[in-house]
Amino acid sequence: MNFNFNDQKENKINFIFEEDNKHNFFKAKSGEILPVEAEGEILLGLGKKEDFTKDVLKEAVAKLIRFLADKDISTISFSANNTDLDDKDFCLAIVEASIVASYKFDHYKSEKACQKLSEINFDESLSPYKADLEELSNVLEGQFLARDLVNLRSNDIYPETLAQAAHDNLSDLGVDVKIYGKDEILDMGLTAFYEVAKGSDKEPKFIVMEYLKGDNEPLALVGKGLTYDAGGYSIKTSAGMKTMNSDMGGSGTVIGAMKAIASNKLKVNVVAIVAACENLISGRAYKPGDIIKARNGMTIDVDNTDAEGRITLADAVNYAATEYKPSLLVDLATLTGAVLVALGETYTGAVTNDDAAFAKVKKASEDSDEKIWQLPNDPFFKTYNNSENGDVKNSGGRMAGSITAGQFIENFIEEVPWVHLDIAGTAYLSAPQGINETGATGVHVKTLYNLAKNY
Ligand code: BES
Ligand code: MN
Ligand code: ZN
Repeated sequence: MNFNFNDQKENKINFIFEEDNKHNFFKAKSGEILPVEAEGEILLGLGKKEDFTKDVLKEAVAKLIRFLADKDISTISFSANNTDLDDKDFCLAIVEASIVASYKFDHYKSEKACQKLSEINFDESLSPYKADLEELSNVLEGQFLARDLVNLRSNDIYPETLAQAAHDNLSDLGVDVKIYGKDEILDMGLTAFYEVAKGSDKEPKFIVMEYLKGDNEPLALVGKGLTYDAGGYSIKTSAGMKTMNSDMGGSGTVIGAMKAIASNKLKVNVVAIVAACENLISGRAYKPGDIIKARNGMTIDVDNTDAEGRITLADAVNYAATEYKPSLLVDLATLTGAVLVALGETYTGAVTNDDAAFAKVKKASEDSDEKIWQLPNDPFFKTYNNSENGDVKNSGGRMAGSITAGQFIENFIEEVPWVHLDIAGTAYLSAPQGINETGATGVHVKTLYNLAKNY
């Protein structure tokens, strides 16, 4: 996307509040659109001043961009800031909404949507923010990478191709992408991860992405990488299974965040880790009742093979914690259906062992307009994970399900400051929300970018 600041008049978008509206046949309700062909301009309603927020602006602009999608328009120009947002927030919000609303996943459509919008013009008064817009546009490239990886189906994205995509998108930006296969996974002691992976014909891949451009202890990002989750022998229903290509949403986010961080050349040390595999049924698959050993020596009583993500993460976070000694470890995972029950598709659920670490993640999420809600890490809930025969069970049952899932992972993080983000609701939408369409959102690419930037 090109940004200009010379107040061009081509396809001028005029923002209008109801109070200021002087037009007939146009009420200036938020998101209302009226092209005035004779003037070559488009009126865009922002509703009542007292109801105005940044989200109102973003949603109105996103609606406009979708309205323009099938028109032959490559350039639009926005009128000067007449809102109570500061100038920087105003133009960042417009650009984010414009770019996000331009995303269309049509990989599997014979007839491709043709997105023509390539240039956004702003009033000259906004020219000091050009660099901020370029930065945001790079971050959104990372978010789009995450969305593509999550939207692609499991016949195209499996451990090998996910690893290849990480390599192809990150290597040229100065990220060292290391890809380990079965033998190395076992040599590295990632035995619990391998137990989940072994039922599939697709070889698991352990993907380590290092971006080392700073001086301090690294930030470690770990993403759940189930390229398909059928549930294993604790099998899912067909309906519950259908969208489980999206069960690598956490890895999509960390790969996208690495792209955002590296393309903006942040001076930080960040390592991202993905344990990529499929959870399927076969004569080699792990079974309910199996007791398996994790990298840290603990035994895991497999209560339910569909609680597989936390088992893969157990070894992945343990590797990140012991090999990199990070001062903050964030894991992101489409981990539980329970988080959808608690927080819908609107809030990510968080569990932490360190309130100061959580505060940093929370701040980064607020700077990103991405919602996170902290769940209580109450010691009592940990008893739900107790096992008769092993050190821990992989399912704590129905009660406090998103919390016990996080607490399971906590057993393997070696007391590193840690924040767990359950994105099962927010990574993949069953219906449009805000400026996002149905499907993958790339949620928290922005949060992780802002976290790394302030690290
Ligand atoms: N990948 C699922 C969680 C999920 C559910 C993500 C719905 C997105 C939408 C996870 O592996 C899973 O199956 N979790 C189980 C855990 C249970 C067996 C303790 C669940 O939530 O039902
Ligand atoms: Mn599962
Ligand atoms: Zn899963």
